[in-house]
Amino acid sequence: MPERAHKIFRILTLNQISPLGLKLFSSSHYKVGSDTTEPDAILVRSHNMLDMDIPPSVKAIGRAGAGTNNVPVSAMNLRGVPVFNAPGANANAVKELVLAGLLIASRNLIPAIHFTEKLEGDNETLNRLSENGKKQFAGIELPRRTLGIIGLGAIGRLVADAALRLGMKVMGYDPNITVDAAWNLSSEVKRAESIEDLLRNSEFVTLHVPLLDSTRHLVNRQVVQSMRNSTILLNFSRDGIVDENAVLEGIEMGKIKYYVSDFPSEKLQHHARVITLPHLGASTQEAEENCAVMVTKQVIDYLENGGITNA
Ligand code: MLT
Repeated sequence: MPERAHKIFRILTLNQISPLGLKLFSSSHYKVGSDTTEPDAILVRSHNMLDMDIPPSVKAIGRAGAGTNNVPVSAMNLRGVPVFNAPGANANAVKELVLAGLLIASRNLIPAIHFTEKLEGDNETLNRLSENGKKQFAGIELPRRTLGIIGLGAIGRLVADAALRLGMKVMGYDPNITVDAAWNLSSEVKRAESIEDLLRNSEFVTLHVPLLDSTRHLVNRQVVQSMRNSTILLNFSRDGIVDENAVLEGIEMGKIKYYVSDFPSEKLQHHARVITLPHLGASTQEAEENCAVMVTKQVIDYLENGGITNA
């Protein structure tokens, strides 16, 4: 059990954490900073803690986000140190960026923007050149097309709901939901029997599984082979879920029309059919505040009362 009450708890922040969360640490009981030594707890966002020497004084870690793959969770648990996270707290932010990704890809917006940027002349010339060139950017509309969602946690479910409201058909697959009774979704979300079943039926595929040993390279060569031609593949989960070589092959074969990824990639980011973002899914003011408040409350409850939620 952590030591109680009167002592001053020292909190080390490894990333910028929203002030709305940090202000929950009352100044009389807590010292918070990015240079704190001998910390009682660490707050982290995306900083990689896997190779970090975590001081023995640490009693709890708070990850201001959903995934905990940047924290050595098993090693910490063996030391009796809980790792708290914020499941669902940024789900709406990620859902909105997935919708942006769907629209950017379905309407060929990135090549269209590059095309317009390169045009030169007065407005009359620009209009004429645009009219001549725009045919190549004709897109597709979303209603009645199928979005396949792999992973139906907090984010996958919000994406399913939004896609249905846009008039899309939705098919879902979750490697972790194996029994019918747990399939607690709108009856409009069709349950795929397997990833292959989902891929055969989906024009758009979006990934929302955590990065685990069992999900690393879930999208591999064999999976890509099962895709329909011209699939738009979106990855707002973790880059390790996708085998980048398989994506490149898929693009060459015409299986993948666009790969929209929330991760920079040395191999992929200059490819004309790949759209990469600097991990922006959870980067909204609201999501940063929600995550910070959720983990801070958990860390405080643990340090002061030994309470455990979401560890
Ligand atoms: C998450 O796991 O929720 C995100 O990676 C959060 C973030 O971008 O910080």
